[in-house]
Amino acid sequence: MRDALTNPFQPGSDTVPEIWAGRTAQLSDWRDVLRPRLVAGLFERGRTLVGEAGLGKSALVRRIAHEAELAGDWTTAQIRVALGTDALKRIASEVLKLADRAGLPAAREGRIAELLRRVQSVAVSGFSLALSEEGGQESYTALTDLLVEVGRAAICQDQIVLIHLDEIQNIDDERMLSQILIALGDAITHEEPVTVPGGGQITRSLPIAVYLTGLPEFADQAGTRKGATFARRFKTTTLAAIDDDDLRSALRPFVVAGWETSTGTNGAGRVRMDPDAAETIIDLCRGEPFLFQLAGERAWYAGTGDVISREDVIKGWQEAVPEATAHVERVLERLPQREREFALAMAELPTQERTLTRIAASLGHSKATDAGPAAQRLDRVRGIITRGKPYTFRHRAVEAFLTSDWPAAG
Ligand SMILES: Nc1ncnc2c1ncn2[C@@H]1O[C@H](COP(=O)(O)OP(=O)(O)OP(=O)(O)O)[C@@H](O)[C@H]1O
Ligand SMILES: [Mg+2]
Repeated sequence: MRDALTNPFQPGSDTVPEIWAGRTAQLSDWRDVLRPRLVAGLFERGRTLVGEAGLGKSALVRRIAHEAELAGDWTTAQIRVALGTDALKRIASEVLKLADRAGLPAAREGRIAELLRRVQSVAVSGFSLALSEEGGQESYTALTDLLVEVGRAAICQDQIVLIHLDEIQNIDDERMLSQILIALGDAITHEEPVTVPGGGQITRSLPIAVYLTGLPEFADQAGTRKGATFARRFKTTTLAAIDDDDLRSALRPFVVAGWETSTGTNGAGRVRMDPDAAETIIDLCRGEPFLFQLAGERAWYAGTGDVISREDVIKGWQEAVPEATAHVERVLERLPQREREFALAMAELPTQERTLTRIAASLGHSKATDAGPAAQRLDRVRGIITRGKPYTFRHRAVEAFLTSDWPAAG
C-alpha cells in the first residue's frame, strides 16, 4: 500500500501538493480581498510574492490559480521565465490564449483583429521586435491594449482574469523587465468607463489580477530601478517558513483518519501516521515546505506497515540528509558575501547576544552601522532574519544548519 503511486508527499514539484499547509493569509487575500474587489470593479494592486528557494511561491499561486479556474475565472498557465529566454514572447502568447478564451478572435471590429495581429507578431519575434525602431514602444502597448480588451470582455461576461508570471528574477534584461511591468501595470491601472443602472457613467478597474513570483533578488531589481511606479502597482510580500501549527494541521487528517490509498490492483486501504511521527516531521523540516514534503516522502517509503512510525521518519530522513543540506547550502551560497558573513557571524553568537553592535564587532567593523545594510537586506528583502531585540533567524533551517548538527536526526 505504501508505494510510489500512493505516496501523497511531493517534494520538488511546484504543482499544488496534496498535503497542503498554511499560507492562509495569502489564500485569504485572494478570496477575501483581491478577487471580491476586482469583481466590484475596484482597483487593487498586483501581488508580488518573493522568498527563498523552496518556500512554496509557485505552489501557492498555482493553488490560487487552481481555485480561480474552478470558479470559472480565466487564468493563464503558470508562465515560467527560464533564464536567458524571451519572457515577452511567452507573455504575448499567453495573452493571446486569454483573448481566445474571451472570444476576441470572433469580434467583428477591425481594430481588434489588428490588435491580435500586433500581439501575434510579439509572440513570434518577442523582445527583438521590441528593440527594433518600428516595434519598440509598439510591442508593449499592443500587449497592454489587448489585455484591456480581454478585461473589457471579462466585464461583459462577469469574469475575472488571473495572470501568473513565475521565476521573474530570471528576466535579467532591465529594459525587458521594465516593459513587461509597465504593460501589466498599465492594464491593471486602466480605468474603464461603464454605464450604471439609471444611465449614469462611472469608471471602474478591469477585473485583472496579476501575480508575480520569484526569488527575493527580484524585489531589488524592481524596487530600486523601477521605483515608486512599481510599488504603487504591485504589493510585495516576502514569504517566510510555514508555522509548526499549520504543519500540524496539515498532518492531522493523516494522524486521525489516515490517508486513503487506492490503487487499481491493491484495492483501497488507509495509512495512518503516529502523532510522534508527525511531530518528528515537523521538527525536522523547520517550517520549510520543501523539506516537509521530503521528510514525508521518505518516511512513507521507509516502512511497509499501515502506520508511519517515528522510526520510519528517522530512517527516511537519514537518506534525505544530503538533500536537506544542499537545500540550505543553496540559500547560503546565493547570498552576497556581506550578507552571508553577517548570517554566519550572527549564528556564532549566543542567542541573547545577537545585536547589531555585537555582530558588527565580530565582523571586525568599527561602527555598528557598517553592518546595517547587510542586516537590513537579510531582514526586509530576504526574510532570513528579523531585526528585533535581539536579532533572530526567521529562516529556521538556516539557523539550525549554522548552529547545530541539523539535519542529522537525533
Ligand atoms: N503550502 C504548502 N504546504 C505543503 N507543501 C508545500 C506548500 N507550498 C509548497 N509546498 C511544497 O514545497 C516544495 C517547494 O514548493 P515550490 O516549488 O512552490 O517553491 P518555490 O518557492 O516556488 O521554489 P523555487 O524558488 O525553487 O521555485 C514543493 O515540493 C511543494 O509541493
Ligand atoms: Mg518556484
